[in-house]
Amino acid sequence: MSAVVATKRVTVPDIRAHKNSKPVVCLTCYHAHTARLLDEHVDLMLVGDSLGMVMHGMETTLGVTLDMMITHGKAVMRGSKHALVVVDMPFGSYEESPQVAFRNAARVIQETGCTAVKMEGGQRLAETVQYLTQRGIPVMGHIGLTPQATNVMGGFKTQGRTHAEWPAIEADAKAIAEAGAFAIVLEGMAEPLAAKITREIAIPTVGIGASAECDGQILVMEDMLGLNPNPPKFVRQYANLGPEIERAVKAYAADVRDRHFPGVENVYQMKRVS
Ligand code: KIV
Repeated sequence: MSAVVATKRVTVPDIRAHKNSKPVVCLTCYHAHTARLLDEHVDLMLVGDSLGMVMHGMETTLGVTLDMMITHGKAVMRGSKHALVVVDMPFGSYEESPQVAFRNAARVIQETGCTAVKMEGGQRLAETVQYLTQRGIPVMGHIGLTPQATNVMGGFKTQGRTHAEWPAIEADAKAIAEAGAFAIVLEGMAEPLAAKITREIAIPTVGIGASAECDGQILVMEDMLGLNPNPPKFVRQYANLGPEIERAVKAYAADVRDRHFPGVENVYQMKRVS
């Protein structure tokens, strides 16, 4: 008799249960080694399309493709066994119709093995969120500052700075929650509005540059580790790995140039192939 012992991952109902309870800990993650390091400490890892900027040096997320998301989604799934993994749907892969969104989201789920997808948009996306969730694909929403709409918004701008903007943003949050999303990211949003939405809707809100009152928080991992030379203002840095990596690479380069590899001769003989 053989037994396959599957490690239990955090589930969508587990994340929902964070509403009005313990905050949901989320970070972005794009590759296997970091997934392994984060796995036990976060509830949810997001393979965000911010990987276009962070991993690929793009200026916006608009050039990110479904294939890129799938490649990084697979890596994060291979590196983790505990946290719930959500993969972002990139620009152009879901806006056209619920059917197109379903086909592309199903590809992400099937090819990566992740649990859920995330999509940017409010009321206009509610029908798509409902279509996917009713067909077995959990959806995380994302409203407020939505980077895929940068060209329409004229840049990355905090949303809800004036009270006149609030009703439309609140309507977006309610529409996505009522359509069946299991959680929603509130990005770049005026603090009192994010706190109000958190009180008003029945699903967990996950803030980024929004409010401490949200039901959870997410940051781009590289921003909080000090790997981004220009992180957003709201990001608290928990480490400063940029200078540490530079110091290590400088030391390595000096060793290579000096033909100095301390300790190697004790471990194995390096053979010179002539
Ligand atoms: O792409 C991303 O990393 C995101 C988070 C910032 C929420 O959408």
